[in-house]
Formats: sequence, structure tokens, C-alpha cells
Amino acid sequence: MTKIAFIGVGKIGQTIVYSSVIDGIFDEIMLYDIIPELPDKFEHELRHAFASRGVKTEIISTNNIDDISNSDIVVIAAGKPRKPGMSRRDLFKDNAKIMIDLASKLPSKNHGAIYVMVANPVDMNASVFAKYSKEMVISTGDQVETMRMRSFIAKKLHVPVNEVDGFVGGEHGEDAVVLWSTVSVKGLPISEYNINKEEVEKYVKEIPGEIIRVMGGTTWGPGTIIADIIKAITLNENRLMSIAMPRKFEDEIIHVSVPTIVGRKIGPSIESLIDEQDRWHLTSAMKDFYDVYKDMLKSLESVENAR
Ligand SMILES: NC(=O)c1ccc[n+]([C@@H]2O[C@H](COP(=O)([O-])OP(=O)(O)OC[C@H]3O[C@@H](n4cnc5c(N)ncnc54)[C@H](O)[C@@H]3O)[C@@H](O)[C@H]2O)c1
Repeated sequence: MTKIAFIGVGKIGQTIVYSSVIDGIFDEIMLYDIIPELPDKFEHELRHAFASRGVKTEIISTNNIDDISNSDIVVIAAGKPRKPGMSRRDLFKDNAKIMIDLASKLPSKNHGAIYVMVANPVDMNASVFAKYSKEMVISTGDQVETMRMRSFIAKKLHVPVNEVDGFVGGEHGEDAVVLWSTVSVKGLPISEYNINKEEVEKYVKEIPGEIIRVMGGTTWGPGTIIADIIKAITLNENRLMSIAMPRKFEDEIIHVSVPTIVGRKIGPSIESLIDEQDRWHLTSAMKDFYDVYKDMLKSLESVENAR
């Protein structure tokens, strides 16, 4: 029996819920948000969709976090979204506080759950949640960038998207790096094709901001991609995905994406199989993440301790 809890059912939360539960792979789903009635009304919407599709999954909706219990998977999409022009890191101060609060409440009633972090800055929030909860938490990281990269290359080269392979790694967002040594099209290395790498990198970094500017937030892309991460865990698919699992870096647990096997067990990653130049990029992404995260964590903790 697989039970999943969704913490935060705003724009992206709802899209992830719909995309991951509509095929009926869960026995029970729990919906939680701090906005009164939002989980309840969303539950009604889902029940109507389930009625049409014959999905038998049980739904519990609540505004009381104590009702979230015995989950196998907990997905956290609670927190402020970016406004046009903001970076994901600008959200750290507000959203990391939510993670510290959730880390004090969720683990005692959800023993052994895998936590899937979605709220931004997603990698740093995963690290904060891991630090304060001591639980297994992954960040959805660069699987989203990976699919953006593949879709752009497929469109440029006029090939079906399933003929494009490869991954983006590093920190989710502006610092993500295309791991070019992993990229191939129809089984041939990308160097065999005429593609402007800078244009691909620019697209991967800039398209989410453009979507936010016009549509108010990204939903269907990440919603589907993150649902696939959840599905890979639930159905033990052991898919290679560019997510971030916890790793020790100097004195902290950090989350930086590397192509990793995702099933009931998370890992190992294929880091050692990636070429030297791409590994160098990953190591500098980790170092940069660590330096910025340490600073931001320090100022957050000094504010929290002064309270
Ligand atoms: N990882 C990704 O690829 C990805 C993609 C899209 C959005 N996001 C991030 O996900 C987060 C949510 O984005 P959104 O567009 O859904 O925003 P939104 O404002 O539509 O929804 C956020 C929801 O979180 C709820 N919330 C806030 N604090 C909470 C708490 N303590 N407990 C429970 N619920 C709480 C709010 O009430 C709201 O319903 C943002 O940080 C956004 O940047 C990440």
C-alpha cells in the first residue's frame, strides 16, 4: 500500500498531484495547505476527475498538519513562488523558514518516508529540511532542466524528443550546467550535430523566467516531470534522472543534481562515468552551492536564534 502526502497545493502542487495520481498508482493521497478550504475544494475537483477515470484512490484533505501521517512519500511544494525578475535564491529567507517548521512537525508521524522537495530554492530547501529533520530528502533539482534541454534540442534538430538523451546537472536554476558529454541524439554524440550550445544553455536558463512573466508561474512542464520522479520512486522504476540526493560536502549536507538512479532506493549516481570537464563543472557547482548556502544559512539561523 503506497500513501503519499502533498504539502502545499498551490499552482505547482496541484499540477504535480494531478499528474501523479490520475493513473491510480496510490492507495491513499493526503492534501495539506495552510489556506482554509483549499485542500478540501481541491479534493472535490480530484474526486470528480477520479469518477470520470474510475480511479479508486482514497483522498484525505486537511488544514491540520497533524493529520499527515504514515506516508511513504511526502512532496513539499509549500512556499512563495518567484515574481518576475526574482531569482530562486531570493526565496531562501522565506521558504527555508517553512522547511525548518515542517522538519519539526512531519518526521515524527511519517517514519521512513522519502521526502521530495519542490519549493524553491529547491536544492537549498532540501538541504535545510535534511539538516533539521535528519530524514531522507531529495530535490527534484535539474530533472526539469534536463527535459527543457532535450525538448529544445529536439525542436532545433527536428528529431523526436525521445531520440535526445543527456542531462543537465548542478544547482537548479541560473547555475545549472548542461553535461554535454552525456548528450546524444539518435545514439550519436552531440558533437556530430550542428547545434549552438550557448543557445541551448541560454534557453534552459531563461525559459522558466519567460513562462513566469507571461503565465504567472511554471506548472505543466515541472508538474509532469516531478510526477515522473514520484512515479519512478513509487513503482521502483530505477530510472536515470538528474535529481539531487543528500551528499556530505565539507561540514554540511548539500543537494546538487547529478544523473542518479531513482527507484524505491535513491542512487547511486553515475558521476564517475561523466567526462572530466563535466565533472569539473559539477564540482564547482557544489563548491559554489556550499559557499552561498553556508552564508544564507548562517544569516537565517542568526535571525531564528535571536527570536
Ligand atoms: N522545483 C521546481 O521545478 C519548481 C517548479 C515550479 C515551482 N516551484 C516552486 O514551488 C513553490 C510553490 O510554487 P507555486 O507556483 O505553487 O506557488 P503558489 O503560491 O501557487 O502555491 C504555494 C502554496 O504553498 C502554500 N503554503 C505556504 N506556506 C505553507 C506551509 N507552511 N504549509 C503548507 N502550505 C503552505 C500556500 O498556501 C500556497 O497554496 C515555489 O517556491 C516555486 O518557486 C518549483
